[in-house]
Formats: sequence, structure tokens, C-alpha cells
Amino acid sequence: MKIDILLGLQWGDEGKGKIVDALSPSYDVVARFQGGPNAGHSLEFNDVKHVLHLIPSGIFHPDKLNIIGNGVVLDPAVFKKEIEELGPPVEELVGRLVISSRANLILPTHRILDAACEHQKGTLKIGSTLKGIGPAYTDKASRNGLRAGEILHLDFRKMYREHTEAHLSQLKNYDFDFDLNEYEKGWFDGIELMKKFRIENTEYLVNNLASEGKRVLAEGAQGTMLDLDFGSYPYVTSSNTISAGACTGLGISPRTIGEVFGIFKAYCTRVGSGPFPTELNDETGELLRRKGTEYGATTGRPRRCGWLDIPALKYAIMLNGTTRLFMMKSDIMSGFGTIKVCTSYNIDGKEQVQLPFDNSTAIDPVYTELPGWKEDITGIRDYAGLPENLRNYVEFIEKRTGLPVTIVSVGPDRNSTIFR
Ligand code: GDP
Ligand code: IMO
Ligand code: MG
Repeated sequence: MKIDILLGLQWGDEGKGKIVDALSPSYDVVARFQGGPNAGHSLEFNDVKHVLHLIPSGIFHPDKLNIIGNGVVLDPAVFKKEIEELGPPVEELVGRLVISSRANLILPTHRILDAACEHQKGTLKIGSTLKGIGPAYTDKASRNGLRAGEILHLDFRKMYREHTEAHLSQLKNYDFDFDLNEYEKGWFDGIELMKKFRIENTEYLVNNLASEGKRVLAEGAQGTMLDLDFGSYPYVTSSNTISAGACTGLGISPRTIGEVFGIFKAYCTRVGSGPFPTELNDETGELLRRKGTEYGATTGRPRRCGWLDIPALKYAIMLNGTTRLFMMKSDIMSGFGTIKVCTSYNIDGKEQVQLPFDNSTAIDPVYTELPGWKEDITGIRDYAGLPENLRNYVEFIEKRTGLPVTIVSVGPDRNSTIFR
């Protein structure tokens, strides 16, 4: 059976958690392929909201297997907190979750290095979530990482100490105060909890399950515009968030990929620094933030808001080989008299659709205006029942991107989902 991928087409926070949870009944396995606790994936059912950081968003379905892939960087302290907050007892969860032995660990000193590095950058800071992502992937790439499979080694504590010493000597280059003890206890408690779970080379597991006909959904984190290679570097995250990242992050070949579901909000948001062509630094942006409760699920920071950006969306569609689009937060757009959509950029007086290489290039978005709708759509469950102007908005996006929008989301609950 082919493996489907679900990933974000914008700057993250598109609603991946909600849709993975809503699609889980159609799958046997949900596997996270990259990122770490920088992610905050929200999902809602029975009037309760859950936010996941490391654990795949299929975890609330008792009969589904969830896999933390080798491409993920795992912080044991965050893992423990998350497992404890899930609800079901650990004895039950161990049957639902498997960790790749190849997943690199985020050490307490990675978090401190992340904070020290951002502090030193001052106004040029990336706006990192300070979860240790950059330093952990740096160690992975420089072949200095500690991996989940190593926690079972008898000399794990010694290995930990050696890694930590190396980080402490790096930290001497920064004028930054920290308290390592504050993090260490929770981290080692997390290591003990991880030992209760299956830790194995999950590339065999994923491929075997797919060969047996099991349906696997690969869950991305962050979004295409934060991709290490194709985002507005250095204002990006430290992993490949695009569909290719699912191959390296789970150990699956490009030939096993089936659908690539690209998820986007009906508008745009970004947290952290970096270019954002359609950003609205006015009352409309403020209104989007307020109506959409656009505050980070991981850090609580206000998200920057703006209109939908079609050239950026088409760039993301191209990079991922996207086969279908899912549009989220359509309900937030109710009430605008006119909705603007960026269809090209004016750069140096020339109209173009490619994002420039240089982050400092001034981009003036060229907008197409579409009539809005006033109705509250949160209770609607069939596409035909949506206001005509919303359907026109969806069809405008389909025409411009050449892809079908097969899900329209009208609220945070798993049931507030219109399948077309
Ligand atoms: P993720 O990181 O892609 O999983 O997205 P986040 O969870 O960080 O942010 C999406 C936010 O929008 C969460 O608070 C969700 O509960 C919420 N959400 C998802 N879909 C919808 C929707 O269609 N309408 C509304 N109003 N909220 C939504
Ligand atoms: P989900 O999976 C939105 C952003 C940070 C920062 C940059 C680098 O919930 O969509 P990092 O901590 O990775 O070093 O931060 O990337 N960022 C996200 N923005 N959603 C996320 O995840 C993000 N994960 C990281 O704000 O700009
Ligand atoms: Mg999020």
C-alpha cells in the first residue's frame, strides 16, 4: 500500500494536528517524520483541546499505531510531559507508540545553546522556539548526536556527560547565564519513561506495514516555507519539511509515496522573524489574529497575519508534488466585506511570481479582490451549503493552483470538517 503524506504549505500552524486526527480513522499508522518539540499540533474533540509536540496526531485513536520517525529530534523531558498529559495510562500508550532508535535526542544543553545563540544574535534572531532544534540537528549533521537507541547502553550516562561537556565548553563563548540542573532531572526521568516503549529501527516497521497493506499517513511538522533548503534561510527551521523529508525521516523510498496532502489556511500566518510578503501590520491583520486566535501553540507568541499568498502556495505545491489541497480556518474569513488574495509580486517595478533569493528584497504584493461572505459557517457540513462567495474563493484557489481543494475546515473540532 502506498504511503500518504500530510504537510504544511505555509509557515506552519496550518492545522495539521486537527486534520491528521480527523483522517486517522482511514489509516492504520501515523508517523511523524521531522521536527521536534518546536511543533505544536492542536486537535479538538468532545470539547477538549489537546496540543501535541512530539507525539503523532493519531494517538487519540486507540487502534492506531503511532511512530516517531528517525527524522525527528526528541527531547525526553518534553516526551514525558506530553505522555503524562495525554490521559490514557502509560501501560496502554506503550502499545500505540513506537520510537525510532535513530531519532536524535535533544539534550538539555541543546536548549541552552539555542537560547544563548538567539540571545547573541540580538535583533537578527531567527525567532526560534528555543526548544534546542538547531543545535540538535547541528550535532546530527556533524555526527556528534546521541540517538534514542543509545539510551539502552550501559554507559549511556557517560556518553551523555561527554556530550554535555562538549556543549558546556561551547557555551563559554557566550555571555549567557543558565542552570543546567533545572533541565537535567526532567530529562533523565524522560529517558526512564522512554525505556518502557518500543525503540527500534522503525524503517523496517513502516515498510513492512505498508507492504502488508496497512495504510500509513506520514505527518509533517512546521511548513514548506520554513524548510531548511527552500524557506527564507536563515529564517527557517533546521529540517526538511517538504515531502522529500518524509523519505529521509522515515526511511521510505519516493516510489512508496501515494498522495501528498498540502494543507493551508485560508489566510497566512508566520511566527518568528523573516520575510512575509502579505503581512498586514494594520487593523485587518489584528482582526485576523483576534478572530483566528493566532497565538503559538508552543510558545504563546502572537502570530503575524496576512492575506493568502498564491505564488508562495504554488511554490510549496511544486516542491512537494502536492496532489490535493485542504483549506483550513475558512470560518475565520466570515465577516470580511472584501477578501484580498496575492496573485503576483511587484519587485523593482516588475510583476513576477517567483520569491526572490535575497530576504531584504522589497516585495509589493499584487492583489486580486474577491467578495467576502457574512454567514457563520461553523455548523455547515456539506460543501453545497457553504456561502456562494466562499465556494467562489475555493474555486478561485483551485483555478490558480491547478489542484482540487478536497477538504474545507470550518472549525477546530475534528467534526467541523467538510470532505468534498
Ligand atoms: P498545526 O501546527 O499545523 O497542527 O496547527 P496549530 O495547532 O499550531 O494551529 C492551528 C490552530 O487552528 C489550532 O488552534 C487549531 O485548533 C485551530 N484550527 C484548526 N482548524 C481550524 C478551523 O478550521 N477553524 C478554526 N477556527 N480553527 C481551526
Ligand atoms: P508546527 O508543526 C510555526 C518557526 C519558529 C522560528 C523558526 C525556527 O506547529 O506548524 P526552531 O524552533 O525550529 O529553531 O524555529 O521556525 N517554527 C514554527 N512556526 N509552526 C511550527 O511548528 C514551528 N516550528 C518552528 O517560530 O521562526
Ligand atoms: Mg503548530
